Amino acid sequence: MPEIVLSQTLAHVRHGSNMGQPLTRRDGVLKVTGAAKYAADQHPPGMLHAVLAVSTIARGHVAFLDVAAAKAHPGVVEVITTANRPALAQDPDERSDLFTFRLDLLQSDRVRYANQPIAIVVAETLEAATEGAALLAPRYEIEPARVGLDATESFVPAAVGPGFPAQMHRGDVEAGLAAATRKVTETYETPAQYHNPMEPHAIVAAWDGDTLSIDTPSQGLAIAQGRLAGLFGISPDSIHIRSPFLGGGFGCKGLISGPQVLGAIAARAVGRPVKLVLRREQMYGPVGHRAPTQQALRLGTDQNGKLIAIDHRTKTMSSTFDDFFEPASDASHTPYASAAIATSHEAVRADIGTPMFMRAPGEATGSIALESAIDEMARACGMDPLAFRLKNYAEVEPISGKPFSSKALRECYRQGAERFGWERRPLGSRQMRDRDGLLVGWGVGTATFPALMFAGHAKAVVRSDGSGIMEIGAQDMGQGAWTALAQIAADALALDIDQVEFRSGTSDLPDAGIAGGSAHTATAGMAIHNAGADVIARLAELATSDKPSPLFGAGNAGVIARSGRLCRRDDAAAQSTYAMHAHGAVFAEVKVDPDLGQIRATRVVGAFAAGRIINPRMVESQLNGGMIWGVSFALHERAVMDPRSGRVMNANLAEYHVPVNADVPSLETILVEEHDPHVNALGIKGVGEIGITGTAGAVANAVWHATGVRVRKFPITLDRLIEPE
Ligand code: MOS
Repeated sequence: MPEIVLSQTLAHVRHGSNMGQPLTRRDGVLKVTGAAKYAADQHPPGMLHAVLAVSTIARGHVAFLDVAAAKAHPGVVEVITTANRPALAQDPDERSDLFTFRLDLLQSDRVRYANQPIAIVVAETLEAATEGAALLAPRYEIEPARVGLDATESFVPAAVGPGFPAQMHRGDVEAGLAAATRKVTETYETPAQYHNPMEPHAIVAAWDGDTLSIDTPSQGLAIAQGRLAGLFGISPDSIHIRSPFLGGGFGCKGLISGPQVLGAIAARAVGRPVKLVLRREQMYGPVGHRAPTQQALRLGTDQNGKLIAIDHRTKTMSSTFDDFFEPASDASHTPYASAAIATSHEAVRADIGTPMFMRAPGEATGSIALESAIDEMARACGMDPLAFRLKNYAEVEPISGKPFSSKALRECYRQGAERFGWERRPLGSRQMRDRDGLLVGWGVGTATFPALMFAGHAKAVVRSDGSGIMEIGAQDMGQGAWTALAQIAADALALDIDQVEFRSGTSDLPDAGIAGGSAHTATAGMAIHNAGADVIARLAELATSDKPSPLFGAGNAGVIARSGRLCRRDDAAAQSTYAMHAHGAVFAEVKVDPDLGQIRATRVVGAFAAGRIINPRMVESQLNGGMIWGVSFALHERAVMDPRSGRVMNANLAEYHVPVNADVPSLETILVEEHDPHVNALGIKGVGEIGITGTAGAVANAVWHATGVRVRKFPITLDRLIEPE
C-alpha cells in the first residue's frame, strides 16, 4: 500500500511511553483532504459498473425478468440472473459455523425478503447499468408477507447472539418475586434499526485467472477471505482484499455480505474488473439490521429496596431462512446484584433479511429496557434512581457468580454525578423548567460491556538501523484503530512512533481478527505487544550469544519470549476465573415542550472505566459516538415496516432519523482511571460499544423525569408523549 502515507500531524512529547498520548489520527490528513481512497473511489482500467436489481416483494417467486430489454439497452454488457450465474463451489445456503451466515447469491428465484438481490446488470457506465436494472421490470408470484413479532408461532432458539444460551438463570426467580415487597412488571418495545454507515457496502473486484483482487470495506479481512475462498473454490492466499478505510461499519461490515460477493461474481462472469455500490435503500435487507424486540421485565425488591429478583424475557425476530437472535435479555446478566436472575429469549420467523450484529448487539437493546425498569423500581421504592443503583449495583457478576477482574463503577457513578450536578435533582417528575418554560428532566443509566478478546496475529521486524516494522491486517473504521495500534507497536518495540513503519488494512498481512465486539484494540494490541516482545527476545538472544557483544553470556532470563499469539496460558486462566467488563455511568438532561411534546436531549455526561486508555483523544471520540447512538436509540431511530408489503417505508436517511449536529447534546466524557491486572497484559478493555448502553436508558429516564410520562415503546417520540399508549 505504498500510496497511503500515514503521518502524525501533532508533534507530541514522549514521556517514556507512546501509549496514553492523545495523538491525532494518522489517517486524518488523508481523510479531510479527500486523498483517502475508499473502495468505491477505485477505477481500475477497463472497469465496468454493476447495479443490483432487488425484489420489491417480501415473499414469493420471481416469475419473469425482461432480460432481453435490459440487454438491448446501449452500454449494457451482461445481465446475470439465476439462469446464468457462474457456478459456485459452495451452496450459499450452507451454514458451516456460527459466523457463516446464509447469503442470497442468485441461487434461486425464491424471494425471502424485500430488497433481496434478484439480478445484476453490468454496463459500461453506472447510468446504463441503472437503466438496465430498471428495464428488467420483474413480475412475481406474490405470497403474503409475514412481518411483526406475532408473524408466526414463536419458539425458543437454540442459541442467541454469537452462540450464547437462550435461557439462563441463577437462583429461583419465581420464589424471589413471590417474596418481594415491591414489584415492577412492565413490557418494553424496541424497533428494527439499520446500521446506516455513511459509506454503503461497495466492492471493486478484478479476477486474474483464479486470483481475485478486491477493494471493499471489511471489519474482518481474514474471515472475508475465507468465506470468498469457500464460495469460489480457490485458496484464501489467492484472494487479496484491500480495506484501508471504512466509512463506518457498526457490525454490518463484520462479515462479507451477499451484495459484496455478487460484485465478485459479476467480475468473474464478464472477465473484467467490476464495481458494485449499494444504493442507500438497498441496504435495508441484504446486509443485516437490528431486529425488533419486546421485552418483559419483572423486578422485585425486599423492604429495604434491595433487588431480590430480576426476570428478563425477550421476544425477537429472525428471518425465515437463517438464525440470528438479538440477545437482549443478556443485558441483565451484569449490572445489578440479585440473588435470583433469569433471562430468556423466544423468537418468531418473518419475511425479512437476516438480522445481524449491530453496535452493542443485545446490550444496547436490553439496556434501555432494563434501565427503564430499574428507574420504575426505584420510584416504586420512593428512592432516588442513583441512590437505588448505588444500593443495587453488582459487586460480583450476578449470573456467573464470578468476581469482576476489576471494577470502578462506583467511581463512575460518583464522578459522573458530581460533574452533572445530580444532587440538585428533585425526586418527583415535572419539577424543573428552563427560562423558556420547557420541562427539564434528569436521568441516569448504568453502562456495562464485556471486555472481549479474539485471536490475533502480528509480525514485528527490527531493522539493523534501529527502526522497526509492525504488520497486522487490522481495520480502521474511523475509530482511530491505526493510531492507537501504532502507539502500542512503538512501545512494543521500545521505539518512538515515528521510528515504526506501521502496515495495516490488507488481507495479505497477519490476521488481526474481527474489528467488532469492542475487542479490536485489545485483540490486535495484544498481538502487536507479543510480536514486539518476541522480536526483542530474539534480539536479546543474538546479543547474549554474540561474543563481541557486551551482553555476551549475560543470559536473557529477564526477557519473556512470547509466541506472537494472542492468549498466554495465564491469560486463559484469568478468563475463566473473572468476569471481565468495562463499566460506566451516564447522566442525561432532556427538555420537553409541555404543549407540543417535542423532546431534545440537551446534556449528557458519561463516566467510564475501561482499563488502560491507549489514546484518550480516540477513546473520548468513541465514547461520544456511543453516547450519540444512545440518544438516537432513545429518541430517533426506527425502521417503519409496511405490514402489507413487508417493505421498510423509510429506507433512506431523510426519514430514518439519526441525530444530526443539531440533535446532539453537549457531551462530556470522564475517563475514570482503572488498572485491571487480569484482562490482558496491557490492561486494555474496549470502548466501541459501551457508550450506547447507559445513555439510551438515561435519556428515557430523563424524559419521564421531565414529563411524568413513562414511554415504554422506543424511540420516544412526541406522539407517544402526548397520547401515551
Ligand atoms: Mo460490532 S456490532 O461489534 O461491529
